[in-house]
Amino acid sequence: MIIDQATTLRLMAAVSLDGTLSPTATLPATDTLWSTAKLAQTIAVASGKGGVGKSNVAVNVALELAELGHRVTLLDADMALANADVLLGITPKYHLGHVLTGQRTLQEVQIEVTDGLRLIPGGSGVAELASLSLDQHARLMAELRAIETDSDFMIIDTAAGIAGNVIGILKAVSEVIIVTTPDPTALVDAYATIKLMHQAVTDTPIRIVVNDVVELGDADRVFKQLRTTTARFLNREIDYLGTIPHDSELIEAVREQRPVVQYAPETPASRALRLIARTLEISRTKLDKNKKTSFWSVLSSADQ
Ligand SMILES: Nc1ncnc2c1ncn2[C@@H]1O[C@H](COP(=O)(O)OP(=O)(O)O)[C@@H](O)[C@H]1O
Ligand SMILES: [Mg+2]
Repeated sequence: MIIDQATTLRLMAAVSLDGTLSPTATLPATDTLWSTAKLAQTIAVASGKGGVGKSNVAVNVALELAELGHRVTLLDADMALANADVLLGITPKYHLGHVLTGQRTLQEVQIEVTDGLRLIPGGSGVAELASLSLDQHARLMAELRAIETDSDFMIIDTAAGIAGNVIGILKAVSEVIIVTTPDPTALVDAYATIKLMHQAVTDTPIRIVVNDVVELGDADRVFKQLRTTTARFLNREIDYLGTIPHDSELIEAVREQRPVVQYAPETPASRALRLIARTLEISRTKLDKNKKTSFWSVLSSADQ
């Protein structure tokens, strides 16, 4: 009998594993590449299912990285449900699409959120990048590349699943964060996204954030299930990045249109988000070695 991967994952999700071991969150050592790194570390925040917390992770982690002194660009690439701006309480007038059509300059589109953080509302522009004319390409690439050389991190909030050009984005970044909740459907969808991504690009590191966790043991269980399944069926390693507890302050912060790390800095979700930012900071230099090509050039190249 052939059992497909999704079925196996569902079966595994039904079995409650004892979560005594904590996920393997060993932090890579910082090395000396830091000073020679020219392009930003580009990190896509993706998921299978929608509503699992991608935008909250992207926005709050971007803010925390800026708080740690890094220059951070947050690219909102969820065209259908763009809400990084909503979570920040900002109403952008223009988006990247206006830059591609020449109606606005990149300077006019980007928004200075805090000292170290700027937001680029992607709008339709992110998808359109793949179909630029040679002329547009030449005109824009230098400007877009400047974002990468001016930033230490570029965090990209994506749409759920592989809608639109999400796979194109996942191929162009140096690292992918997959956000899931312990909910079995979110887990199955997270696996499906990892599988599709794996078919398109085999060497980009994937790290997992388990969000909206009520019982700490659930996070261990979920991560182990995902890791076992990807290792078994895709022969692919995935790593643990962090766990974010279910937190009513986060829900309240969203209602208030304020990032939770600012609204309630000491609430458990904020502490967890801060820890994720620190972990990304520590591992940045190691991952820098993986991809040296500009995110924008890969995203806009015809063969992606
Ligand atoms: N850790 C959490 N605790 C409580 N509620 C959460 C948590 N993370 C997300 N949520 C809820 O889920 C909603 C969707 O989050 P969002 O970041 O917009 O998801 P996505 O970008 O994946 O669609 C939030 O508005 C909030 O109500
Ligand atoms: Mg979102």
